[in-house]
Amino acid sequence: MRNANRRVTLAARPDGIPGPANFAEDTQPIRPPAEGEMLVETLYLSIDPAMRSWISEGPTYTRRIEIGDPMRAGGVARVLESRAAGFQPGDIVQGRTGWQSHPTLRGREAQKLDLSLGSVADWLGPLGTSALTAYFGLRDVGDLRPGDTLLVSTAAGGVGQIACQIGKIDGCRVIGIAGGPDKFRFITETLGVDAAIDYKAEPDLTAAIKRACPDGVDVYFDNVGGPMLDAALANMRTGGRIVCCGRISQAAAKEPYGIRNLGMMGGRRMRMGSFIVFDYNSRYPEARAWLAAQIRAGRLQQKLHVVEGLEQAPRALGMLFTGENTGKLVVKVAE
Ligand SMILES: NC(=O)c1ccc[n+]([C@@H]2O[C@H](COP(=O)([O-])OP(=O)(O)OC[C@H]3O[C@@H](n4cnc5c(N)ncnc54)[C@H](OP(=O)(O)O)[C@@H]3O)[C@@H](O)[C@H]2O)c1
Repeated sequence: MRNANRRVTLAARPDGIPGPANFAEDTQPIRPPAEGEMLVETLYLSIDPAMRSWISEGPTYTRRIEIGDPMRAGGVARVLESRAAGFQPGDIVQGRTGWQSHPTLRGREAQKLDLSLGSVADWLGPLGTSALTAYFGLRDVGDLRPGDTLLVSTAAGGVGQIACQIGKIDGCRVIGIAGGPDKFRFITETLGVDAAIDYKAEPDLTAAIKRACPDGVDVYFDNVGGPMLDAALANMRTGGRIVCCGRISQAAAKEPYGIRNLGMMGGRRMRMGSFIVFDYNSRYPEARAWLAAQIRAGRLQQKLHVVEGLEQAPRALGMLFTGENTGKLVVKVAE
């Protein structure tokens, strides 16, 4: 509906896994673009674990979303009208569309997609923010080196898939951890990891990692935190690096899990580092040039998990915390 902006707004802060009960839908008149702005039609929305923290009571690394506000989200959109320099109707852009069908964006907050680097699907996947996260996490925080043993958690997810493939491209031995037999098969057969662990089928994860990495782990790319981080810590080699990318097991947890094996850091001279991908935005062109070259060479791919319909965005957000998604999770809003 071109004359209305459909929105999904925050209705109640979540207690546990977020879902439809935390959001409401409304429609607003479309706001015509002012000087420097453009009216867009949202095509795809990225659904990300960090959204859980933006709608929580507790501390977050960025501005909290207030009740009644449209949910914040990165999206890919088509320009309908433009009063922003450098943007024409028909351009495909990415920017902070939020959970809205027809938002009005500031030109300086949007970026035209360079479709010579990859398709729209590539910009959602192996050129998107998840891929940049894996790239900078491994390269800058993890100091990944050829020959390293790399352990990746949420290996079938958006960030994890790319981390596994970068590890293989860089000449590492890669072990992926994922939940359930389908994800086990996906990371083994499609991503080509050297060994996989279905953590849901393992009564003792520390022992399972030991079996898969008998000589220890050089780099653990941690997307999960909690007991999985403890199991990895127990298997790190001297000089090992832990990339604290995310801690999804703790995002909706009622009681935070206290890490028990931190004491192993000193004896084994380990390093643990964290980062937010946006810190690297001045280096996105470098990362995207490398990622695009890998896509062209057939070495890098990303499975997208597409949920159809703006109104399904709240349900999609919950899927990240139940593990229902396989691949980078996006909501398709329009063709
Ligand atoms: N530092 C940064 O700048 C940055 C940027 C983007 C993302 N991240 C982080 O990267 C991680 C992955 O994000 P993503 O967007 O790629 O999501 P994703 O991996 O595509 O989806 C989340 C996955 O987490 C797993 N999971 C959920 N609850 C879990 C639990 N209790 N224990 C173990 N695994 C659990 C599920 O996979 P299984 O079925 O395998 O359990 C689920 O599919 C998140 O921690 C996110 O916060 C960090």
